[in-house]
Amino acid sequence: MGVVVHEARKIYHTWGRFVRALDGLNLDAETGQVTLIVGTNGSGKSTLLRAISGSLRLDSGDVLIDGSYRPSIGRKEVGMLQQVPVANLCPSFTIEEMIRLYLDGHSVDSWKGARTAFQDHGMAVNSRIREMSGGQQQLIALELVLARLPSILLLDEPTASLDPGHSERILARVAKAASEGVTVLLVSHNLEHGLSICDKVVLMHEGRVVNSWAGSIARSLTARDLKQCLVECAASSLEG
Ligand SMILES: Nc1ncnc2c1ncn2[C@@H]1O[C@H](COP(=O)(O)OP(=O)(O)O)[C@@H](O)[C@H]1O
Ligand SMILES: [Mg+2]
Repeated sequence: MGVVVHEARKIYHTWGRFVRALDGLNLDAETGQVTLIVGTNGSGKSTLLRAISGSLRLDSGDVLIDGSYRPSIGRKEVGMLQQVPVANLCPSFTIEEMIRLYLDGHSVDSWKGARTAFQDHGMAVNSRIREMSGGQQQLIALELVLARLPSILLLDEPTASLDPGHSERILARVAKAASEGVTVLLVSHNLEHGLSICDKVVLMHEGRVVNSWAGSIARSLTARDLKQCLVECAASSLEG
C-alpha cells in the first residue's frame, strides 16, 4: 500500500526540444512513512509529484495509490502542497473563507477540526491570508490540505523560502500527520530538516531513482553524506 510508481516515463516537448523528465522511474513509499526525495535541479522531482497527484499524465508507466491504479485529477485522498503558499491559497480570503472553500461537502466535524487546528497555531480564523507572513501562509495551506484527510501528502519544497522556526513547525506537523497514517512524499533541499523526520531517502537524478536508503541506514545518513551524493550526480552530468 502507500504509493508505488512503476517505470514512469514523461518527455516534455518544448520549442523543438525533447526533455526526458522521468526516464523509467521506480519508487515505493510506505503507508504512514515520510519518504524524503532529494535530487539535483531538473532531476524530475516536481514532475514525479505531479504525476502522483494526477495533475500530469505520464507517457507510460503506472502510479498506484493504496493499491489502485492511476489517480484522476483532484482525487481527494491525495493532497499536495506547492513551494509557494499562495499557489494553494486565495490571498484576499480569510482563513474561515478558505476553510469553507476547502471543506465544501465535508463533514461538520472536519470543519470543527480545521478551526481547532488554527486556534492551536494561535491564528484567528477571521485573519486575512494576504496579511500573514509566508511561513504562516504555508502552515495554513498545510492545515487546509490535511483537513481533507488525505491518505497521501505530496510536498514540493514546502519550506524553501521559510525561516527556521516556521520550517520546524511545518515539518513537525508533517511528522504528526505521518504518525497518524498519512503517506508523505517530501521533496526538499533542506537536508537537515528532511532527514530529521524521514523514514526513507530517495535520490533522483536525470529522471530516475539512482539510490535509496531505508530503516536504520536512512536514519544514520547525514546532510553531508547526501550533499556528497548530489555533488557526484551533478559531476556525472558534466562528464556525460
Ligand atoms: N512544463 C514543462 N515543459 C517543458 N519542460 C519541463 C516542464 N516542466 C519541467 N520541465 C523540464 O523537465 C525537467 C524536470 O523538471 P522538474 O520535474 O521540474 O525537475 P525538479 O523539480 O527536479 O527540478 C527539467 O529539465 C525541466 O526543465
Ligand atoms: Mg521542482
